[in-house]
Amino acid sequence: MYSEKVMEHFRNPRNVGEVKKPDGIGEVGNPVCGDMMRITIKVKDDKIKDIKFKTLGCGAAIATSSMITELAIGKPLKEAEKISRQDIADALDGLPAQKMHCSVLAADGLREAIADYRSKIKK
Ligand code: FES
Repeated sequence: MYSEKVMEHFRNPRNVGEVKKPDGIGEVGNPVCGDMMRITIKVKDDKIKDIKFKTLGCGAAIATSSMITELAIGKPLKEAEKISRQDIADALDGLPAQKMHCSVLAADGLREAIADYRSKIKK
C-alpha cells in the first residue's frame, strides 16, 4: 500500500525535534483525524536555514513531515511556502488516495511557520 520511500521516511524520519530559538513556529491539527504537527524554522537571508518537526500522527503524517523538511531546507521562503501536498506526495513516490489528507499537516504546518516568522519581523 505504501511506497518504499514512504516506509523509509517513516522508519528513519529526517529532522525530528525542534530548532533552537525558532524564528517561526507552525502548529496545525488535521481536521479529518485530529492528528497534530509542530514545525519550527530558522530563517537566514530569507531562506530556510534549518527546519525540524514533531508529529503526533500516523505513518503517512510522519513520512510527509519528514519529506517536507528535506524539500524546504535551503529554499527561499517564497518557494518553500508554495510546496503543496501534491509535491510532497510526488516526492514520496505517491500516497494511497485515502492517505492524501495526511499530507495536509506538513504543507499547512510549514506555511504557518513562515507566516509566524513574517508576523514577527513586522513587529
Ligand atoms: Fe491523521 Fe494520517 S490519519 S494524519
